[in-house]
Amino acid sequence: MTDPSARATWLRDEIARHNEAYFIRDAPLIPDADYDELVRELRHLEAEHPALATVDSPSASVGATPSDTFRPVQHAQAMLSLDNAFDESELRTWADRVVRALSKDPDRLSCSVEPKIDGLALSITYLDGVLSQAATRGDGTVGEDVTANVRTISSVPSRLGATLGRVDVRGEVYLAKSDFRDLNERQRLRGDREFANPRNAAAGSLRQKDPAVTATRPLSFLAYQVIDPQNRIGATTQSALFSRLRELGFLVAAEATTEVGVEAIVARSSWFETHRHDLDYDVDGVVVKLDGFGERSSLGSTSRAPRWAIARKFPPEERTTRLLAIEVSIGRTGRATPYAVLEPVNVAGSTVSMATLHNQDQVLAKDVRPGDLVIVRKAGDVIPEVVGAVPSERGERGERWIFPAECPECGGPLERVGDERDIYCVNPSCPARLLQQVVHFASRGALDIEGLGEQRAAQLIQAGLVRDVADLPTLRVEDLVGLEGLASVSAASLVAAIAGAKVQPLSRLLVALGIRHVGPVAARALAAWFLTYGDLAAAPLAELEAVDGVGPVIAASVHRFVRSPEGAERLHRLEEAGFTLFEPRATALDQTLAGRAVVVTGTLAGFSREQAESAIVARGGTAPATVSAKTYCVVVGQSPGMSKVTRARHLGVPVVGEAEFEGLLVTGAWHTTIADAGDAAL
Ligand code: IVH
Repeated sequence: MTDPSARATWLRDEIARHNEAYFIRDAPLIPDADYDELVRELRHLEAEHPALATVDSPSASVGATPSDTFRPVQHAQAMLSLDNAFDESELRTWADRVVRALSKDPDRLSCSVEPKIDGLALSITYLDGVLSQAATRGDGTVGEDVTANVRTISSVPSRLGATLGRVDVRGEVYLAKSDFRDLNERQRLRGDREFANPRNAAAGSLRQKDPAVTATRPLSFLAYQVIDPQNRIGATTQSALFSRLRELGFLVAAEATTEVGVEAIVARSSWFETHRHDLDYDVDGVVVKLDGFGERSSLGSTSRAPRWAIARKFPPEERTTRLLAIEVSIGRTGRATPYAVLEPVNVAGSTVSMATLHNQDQVLAKDVRPGDLVIVRKAGDVIPEVVGAVPSERGERGERWIFPAECPECGGPLERVGDERDIYCVNPSCPARLLQQVVHFASRGALDIEGLGEQRAAQLIQAGLVRDVADLPTLRVEDLVGLEGLASVSAASLVAAIAGAKVQPLSRLLVALGIRHVGPVAARALAAWFLTYGDLAAAPLAELEAVDGVGPVIAASVHRFVRSPEGAERLHRLEEAGFTLFEPRATALDQTLAGRAVVVTGTLAGFSREQAESAIVARGGTAPATVSAKTYCVVVGQSPGMSKVTRARHLGVPVVGEAEFEGLLVTGAWHTTIADAGDAAL
């Protein structure tokens, strides 16, 4: 489709179709990033060919025509959209333009940097301090009257405790991630449809015909703007406005800050990008706004968006792409995991060409088939996954995918083991299984053998030098020299690195053995309890289950492994080779934290995360990942997870700074807590 006019018409229809799905039916058909791309392309076309622009083009308007379920409400002042910056350089371009327009020194540019909450914009009208009306954005000029529903939201005050004439308070309605999980759990238990994401759940909840239903949904509201022509609220900057809004009973984003200077503004917006997953609400970017209202007026707005603000969008975590094939990979336990081979697509800043499909049930439930257009998601450090097929694009479809009966690596049978839902290659000498076992044996959390990564391991297996991890200590320099990329020096270092692993304690060896379900936490618990491999192997199942931190599933798996002929043989050979089969007793430290749970969040000076946790454990405490009412205290380092801090505050759990950490270890107590972690910790 090269004809610009035909392309523009197609884009307009397509955008209108997606607007309707997103704004009216609360059921988007494609990820937001794909939608943004359509709008961007249309704007681009219209800019290049001004004759193509139409007055009613969706590129110039916001949202969609309101539905007729709710009474229409004319907004006192249009609810504008925001222009987007898709990367740091676009943010800098915006800042440059603002600095020039205001003739300002870039180091003195003062902006509010706020999370861009992925919810729904709402405008709430107060008359003489009393909530009188609440409306959705609609098309920006006319919204929908959702007053009765908004009255059920606990974070929306019904009275302001101040008589202010008419003010419209604007902000975002959203569902906190934790509330979203609870809501979906309830939906599931009741057999009701689960929501795709917190935004859809919030939209569906706000736009209920019956306010009693909305009342059962844990919606929240964060305020960020007021329409107050007489300036009765009396704020002249965004920071002052946030304080006033708080005084009036509204919630405002705790992470919003005022930054001075372009560099500080850019740095704070990157902070949000790094920490987006630590927040208890979904964000799709940051909003940067001029702090001073006077400066805002001198810049003004276009019909669509203010010039004084910009949304820096984060790299999208969901994209659509073509599913080329479904294949199966074999892990170290022999588990066969289906994965998608995709047409490469950029997701969350990196190119994705493969994504997990988890297991057979998931492939069936998602009903994805080779040839489909699918949605791929990559959030934070989580491995990319296929969310599902794009429903609107399902035309002629390929065959349903069937799990193969044979291992793609060794040709052995793939079988369900016991009543597990997973499927396994049961051939113990399957080369794919062996490769993953060797890689795991040498990995950092296990025996940490430098120079033994996936490529090297594959080479050793292919050369027939390694048939089991217990063959590794038998390797000699002369066996290795001559393999590609292995001269005598690197061969000698590899042999030395393997020999060096022999001194690692039993807890590390237990991880390295790759016993199903045994990670570092269980391995440490088992090693600390039994102290020697001999005692562990001789223990009856009931004693394994009695170990603190070892549940019945782990106990059964360990019991099975240590009593299996392969397990016994492998251990025997490792022992012969000189590996350490015992746990050195820690020198006794005062158990200042006995029975106490200390949560660490953020980076502590002088301690890696692992070191901080083991220091707590060495003092008799535990270091769980989440805050509960039983938590003894939360230690906050640099760049902490704010949801942990917020939760601690909510539960009344003491929050202490990193300066207190060493004292806490030695005495079990602290001198001062952080009065306002919102300021002190960030
Ligand atoms: S200010 C005229 N601030 O993003 C300025 N908007 O893409 C109006 N949003 O319609 C918006 N967080 O629904 C602003 N801290 C924030 C926001 C925010 C989320 C939403 C809002 C707006 C949309 C624009």
